[in-house]
Amino acid sequence: MKNSFESIDIFAAKRLDSKDNLKSFRNEFVNSDPTTIYLDGNSLGRLPKRTIPLLDNVINKEWGNDLIGSWNKSWYDKPYRVGNKLAKLIGAKNEEVIITDSTSINLYKLVYAALRHQSGRTKIISDVFNFPSDLYVIQGIIKELGGNHKLELAQSEDGITICDDALNNLIDENTALVVLSHTAFKSGFVYDMKKITELAHSKGALVLWDLSHSAGAVEINLNDANADLAVGCTYKYLNGGPGSPAYLYVREDIIDKLESPIWGWFGDQDPFAFNPEYKPAASIKKFLVGTPPVISLSAIEPGLDITLKAGITNIREKNIRLSEYMIFLINNILVPLGFSIGSPLDSSIRGSHVSLVHPEAYRISKAMIRGIKDDLKVIPDYRKPNNIRLSVSGIYSSFEEINKAITLIKDISDTRYYETIAMPKELVT
Ligand SMILES: Cc1ncc(COP(=O)(O)O)c(C=O)c1O
Repeated sequence: MKNSFESIDIFAAKRLDSKDNLKSFRNEFVNSDPTTIYLDGNSLGRLPKRTIPLLDNVINKEWGNDLIGSWNKSWYDKPYRVGNKLAKLIGAKNEEVIITDSTSINLYKLVYAALRHQSGRTKIISDVFNFPSDLYVIQGIIKELGGNHKLELAQSEDGITICDDALNNLIDENTALVVLSHTAFKSGFVYDMKKITELAHSKGALVLWDLSHSAGAVEINLNDANADLAVGCTYKYLNGGPGSPAYLYVREDIIDKLESPIWGWFGDQDPFAFNPEYKPAASIKKFLVGTPPVISLSAIEPGLDITLKAGITNIREKNIRLSEYMIFLINNILVPLGFSIGSPLDSSIRGSHVSLVHPEAYRISKAMIRGIKDDLKVIPDYRKPNNIRLSVSGIYSSFEEINKAITLIKDISDTRYYETIAMPKELVT
């Protein structure tokens, strides 16, 4: 793909937008404040317009009118039906995917199950870029299992990528499980899923991929990579809404070998038989625990439908183009002002955000949200100590927005406007 850009001016950005095949999808999302540019879809995706009538129907008709009868009409099988749509996006079979619980809880279930299955092996490998919750869950399981397992983290030489050798040197015949974020939450580095899975398999280890920063933004083919296990959230690039339930994937041939550590009634063969003895379902269903959160589960569907309609290949192509354009502007406008790029420059190993590094990242990100004038605000997110993450989402981001955002950062830096921001931090950054 050719990624040269003619000019840093806004008219060039508008010309790029006019040639964008996905531009009509922008209208699918609520965008009630045209003066605000949203570059935080890697934390919480935008609200699809059709989620509003859909939820109205779930609440007023399905719950309000139809009451408990809705369980049989459309609620009971929702974790699978919505899961089937997601399966298409991540290269999995319908029988391998289910929507349930949070990413952290799904990770708990699958890590625990994998370690039990791999008994005798005591090493778990991850990396320094993994999301803290993933590492905490693993640490908790190690304690729970008696402290005989050891978590080892692959290091990064450049603070942006992890080279294959860093993992290769750690994974051995004593490794039970490798747990990695496919796209790193801070730098946006993306692993070659197939290569790392093969590497782990060659030593007899299983691999669990956290797809939270990849699904909906990057092409994923779990089956082609022969991936064993995966989890991920639906509230980022899948636009499922705050706290929308997460998903888990288990490769078909190992479902019956793994046992969920949480024996809830929804994972039983026949929940409504109310048997006192638990008998796990002989399918992915055994990883369900309790009653699905029907309202937030329903809200996932519109985002998935839009993403499937736009096509993940087209979305990824546009995401790359938008990020390359952003990098072009950063290099021309912000690098001379003391900013640097904390993400891979090679788009094939970069997800859908670019990390901008600056010692004043916190105050600059707050100044972007406040805006210098009323006519323009930009919402990025900040990650300690010095990262401003700027995320693009091909189904609603535009080149013009990227241009305006980078220009605002330049203005904030030129005028030192960020010095008007106080240092105390809010709870959610
Ligand atoms: C990569 C990654 N994994 C796990 C989580 C935690 O997800 P949850 O809050 O659904 O447990 C997050 C949250 O942002 C994340 O980015």
